[in-house]
Amino acid sequence: MIEAKDVYFTYPTGVEALKGVSLTIKESEFIAIMGQNGAGKTTLIKHFNGLLKPTKGNVLVDGSNTRDLSVAKLARKVGFVFQNPDNQLFCETVEEEVAFALKNFGFEKSKLEGRVTWALNLLGLMEYRKTSPFMLSGGERKRVALASVLAWNPKYLVMDEPTIGQDYEQKEKLRQFIVQLNAQGKAVVVVTHDVEFVAECTPRVILMANGKIVVDDEGRRVLTNGERLSEASVLPPQVTQIFMELKDFGLETDVIDLYEARRLIRKRLSEK
Ligand SMILES: Nc1ncnc2c1ncn2[C@@H]1O[C@H](COP(=O)(O)OP(=O)(O)OP(=O)(O)O)[C@@H](O)[C@H]1O
Ligand SMILES: [Mg+2]
Repeated sequence: MIEAKDVYFTYPTGVEALKGVSLTIKESEFIAIMGQNGAGKTTLIKHFNGLLKPTKGNVLVDGSNTRDLSVAKLARKVGFVFQNPDNQLFCETVEEEVAFALKNFGFEKSKLEGRVTWALNLLGLMEYRKTSPFMLSGGERKRVALASVLAWNPKYLVMDEPTIGQDYEQKEKLRQFIVQLNAQGKAVVVVTHDVEFVAECTPRVILMANGKIVVDDEGRRVLTNGERLSEASVLPPQVTQIFMELKDFGLETDVIDLYEARRLIRKRLSEK
């Protein structure tokens, strides 16, 4: 369990990025954190692996205060994928990149090779294993960053904007394996502006604005509540907006993804 208890964080510049944030992330939960630019999302999740320590308040990971643990120690449990992969990648080949942390964590050579191959396969990166990460496209680099974290199988997986720069197919793959990892009992936290992606995943949704959590609720309830979303400068999914506008025609108002919308429209049309 990760617990943030009344966390305040002020950057050395004086910017108060978190103003009393409390939340609990249980094992095997799937959470999306959304909200306006500068709301404090990245600042908050950097507290989960101890990259930042609260100015006031506490963060506990499985009962241990992050103030008492090194980032290296926490990283084994809390895998963190940065918003910009270039902050994370530095090895000469993709393969070395994915193996790097495993070596640091002391994985045996035989196990290490197996984990690297598994992660590269999972993210469709096998053909690039001998290539420099810096020769890859932006979307591919992002996948290398993700592979390098997944390789050591952290208990909690925290991702900052994982869908940015991913094409439809990669996004769908990402969604499927998040669902799969989650089903296997891993907690997944995703920071994202991609409301359509969230709609397809229907996680618990946390909305942030001005350094605070303004909403923390089940995905469908949040995504269909235009008023609460607007507090955090988030619009409902486009398909939800259409169904909301057409509610006078007796259409459902809690539709959040295209698949559902298609099914309902077909049903309506076949009734005529
Ligand atoms: N290293 C830093 N030094 C000083 N201020 C910072 C730093 N990083 C972030 N901030 C400030 O802290 C506030 C919260 O930033 P944060 O990056 O957490 O927002 P965010 O919700 O992740 O936004 P975005 O959606 O744009 O990624 C912003 O006002 C930002 O300008
Ligand atoms: Mg951010």
